[in-house]
Formats: sequence, structure tokens, C-alpha cells
Amino acid sequence: MKPLGTPLSKAAMRVMLLGSGELGKEVLMALQRLGVETIAVDRYDNAPGQQVAHHARTITMSDPAALKALIEAERPDLVVPEIEAIATPMLEELEAQGVVQVIPTARAARLTMDREGIRRLAAETLGLPTSPYRFCNSQEELQAAIDGADGQPPIGYPCVVKPVMSSSGKGQSKLDGPADVARAWQYAMAGGRVSHGRVIVEGFIDFDYEITLLTVRALGADGQVQTHFCSPIGHKQVSGDYVESWQPQPMSPLALERAQQIALAVTSNLGGRGLFGVELFVKADQVWFSEVSPRPHDTGMVTMATQWQNEFELHARAILGLPVDTSLKSPGASAVIYGGVEAQAVVFDGVAEALSVPNSDLRLFGKPESFVKRRMGVALVHDADVDTARRQAVLAASKVKPRAV
Ligand SMILES: Nc1ncnc2c1ncn2[C@@H]1O[C@H](COP(=O)(O)OP(=O)(O)OP(=O)(O)O)[C@@H](O)[C@H]1O
Ligand SMILES: [Mg+2]
Repeated sequence: MKPLGTPLSKAAMRVMLLGSGELGKEVLMALQRLGVETIAVDRYDNAPGQQVAHHARTITMSDPAALKALIEAERPDLVVPEIEAIATPMLEELEAQGVVQVIPTARAARLTMDREGIRRLAAETLGLPTSPYRFCNSQEELQAAIDGADGQPPIGYPCVVKPVMSSSGKGQSKLDGPADVARAWQYAMAGGRVSHGRVIVEGFIDFDYEITLLTVRALGADGQVQTHFCSPIGHKQVSGDYVESWQPQPMSPLALERAQQIALAVTSNLGGRGLFGVELFVKADQVWFSEVSPRPHDTGMVTMATQWQNEFELHARAILGLPVDTSLKSPGASAVIYGGVEAQAVVFDGVAEALSVPNSDLRLFGKPESFVKRRMGVALVHDADVDTARRQAVLAASKVKPRAV
């Protein structure tokens, strides 16, 4: 690894973040603390991370030509994808030419940018347990997959339909019977990131709870990559979007061991260095792989209250080739603060009340525009036990009221 140096000089270690939302902002700040020169890229001006980086660039990251031109102009030492909607085949090309190193790898960014690459890898290549699934290009194919009229075992009801390219639950719906199929297809077509015309249908897993297992691939003292696990993070999703998370989620020893084995298998295959958010469903001792982000995870924001090194610091250290410590500092919880209003700029009422909740902290992301369902901030609480922390985090979040000005 190149040594860390003086930013804004020829000795600088330069890192480019592709995506500069609330998660990218925290990674950028963790890098800044190590004297890294940072370049924050997003699709709109004044994105949260752009406000704290040395350099801000605004481009369409899904446009391969624009992405190539920017990387060639800036020549960063590392390129760190923070979102999925990136021209990843171009990243693979530039990585193969030795122009740049992509975190964790360009291949990992490509495989996880849509649901098909990662699901086929996990289920078909690695043989990991997942929900039964099928990919469909039309409403007729969707109906046939559910009914088993395509010659394969029926997916059946209930099931979940998702656009292959989407996140935060966009375009996703649960189907309880044949009457839901047409609506689910149309909703997926409207909610996909790019109109792809392709969905995944998954059998519904009746899990007891779901977790994010933050998994870090970092260099050990021997110069080899070692895999570290954080304590499991439990979370609650509403319409496919995270609203609360907590750490540690209690698990049976067998379920935890299986979760770690699955996370090890998928992250070892994706390779490189960095932190991954492995999403798993758990029922008693049974564990299913759901999906993985090769980067910090939104539910992992709780680690800002619970770990000695939060997920952003872990990512920063791992990508720079530095040692990591994934140990827990305290149980804790996070609760999301939504915009609640459509507005160009907002003020936040109730911040003092929120911070009067014992052991609480807040992040207000600094997004330049508010939408009703836009995540504008998060409340963080640590406490002696997770149940209290959850209650207090929800209380603190509820005190913060964005208001249009
Ligand atoms: N097969 C399934 N069975 C049961 N619940 C599911 C299934 N698939 C998804 N869910 C529920 O919907 C949530 C969102 O699904 P998923 O993670 O696939 O979507 P996403 O849009 O990628 O979300 P995000 O980007 O926020 O992680 C899951 O966390 C889980 O609560
Ligand atoms: Mg998810």
C-alpha cells in the first residue's frame, strides 16, 4: 500500500467516493481524519458528502464516458463505490487496465449492482441457502413462475416481487394471491431504477428476525486478508426501507455460526478489502442469505453509537490496508428521521428535546432538499440493553420535526 501523506500535495493518498449521501459522508470524514485527500462524487450538487470533502464533482455516475473521463482526470489511488447505480463495466475496464483500484473490487461492484448477479452467485455458484426465486421479463412469465407453469417448482404465495435494479424497497411488493400479480408487475416497472423490464420473484421467508452482519476484509499483521465480523445488527423494515436498527441482535450460537459461514463464503468470493453488509433472514437456527452491499450499510449507522470503530471507520481502515477492531462498545439502537415534507430547505425543530433523551446523539445529513419519505437524519442511542436503547432512539427521532421554510 502507498503510505498516507499530506493532502493537497503530491504526497497525498487520494480517494474518490462514487456516491456522497449520508453513508459516503461518514466514510469521507473517517478518511479525512487519516489525512486522506477526498473527492466526493454525486449526481447532484451539495450532496452530504460533498460538503465535507476536499473536492466535489457532480456527474451522472451511470454514464460510462462521464465516469471514465472523471477518473482519468482525477487519477485517485482508490475508487470507492457508495451506491449501486454506477457504470460498473467501465470500472472493471479501468481496473483491468491498471488505471485504478476499485473497492472492494470492480467485479463485486458489478455483481451487487443488480439482484441477479449476486443472487445467482450466492445460490447457484456458492450453494448458499436463499429464498426460492425466479427472474421474469413479463407479467406472463411472473404468473408462470408463481404457478410453476414454466416447468420448475412453483414459487407460490405469499411471494415478493422486486425490480432487479432498485433499492430501499422501491417497486417492491408482497403478493398474497393471484389478484396481486398485475399490480405488483406494474409497481415494479414504475419503481425500478432504470426501466429494466425485469423482476425477481422470491418465495416469502417467514423469518423470526432479520440481521445485517457487517463483515470486514482487512489486512492482518502477516499482510494477508483476514475476515472480521461485527456483532449482528437487528433491524425493522417498513415497505422495504429501514426504520430502526439495533446491536447486538441476540441469536442462537448455531444461527450465528451459520450466519458467519454464509457471510464468509460470499465476501471471500467477492474479494478485495473493505466492509460488507450481509443481509440475512433467521428462523430459529435456520439462516437464509438475502443480499449483500460491498460497502457500509444503512442499518449499520447504529455502530456510530455501539462500536469502538464504527462501520465507516472500519471501511476506511480496511481499504487503506490498516488493522481493524470490530468489537462492541455498548448495546445501542438507531431510528430514522424522515423529511415528512416536500421542501427545498428545511429547519429542524425539536433538536434540543431529542438530545435531552439520555445517551442520545443525532446525525442530520445536510441534504439540500426534503421529501416526505427522504431519510434526513438518524437518532442514535447507547444503553445497557437493546430494548431500552430502541425505545429511546425512537423517542429521540420522534422529537425532530423538519419544517419547510
Ligand atoms: N423473500 C423475502 N421474504 C420475506 N421478506 C422479504 C423477502 N425479500 C425481502 N423481504 C423484506 O423486504 C426488505 C427489503 O428487501 P431487499 O433487502 O431485498 O430490498 P432492497 O430494496 O434492496 O432494500 P435495501 O436497499 O434497503 O436493503 C427485507 O429487508 C425484508 O424485510
Ligand atoms: Mg436490503
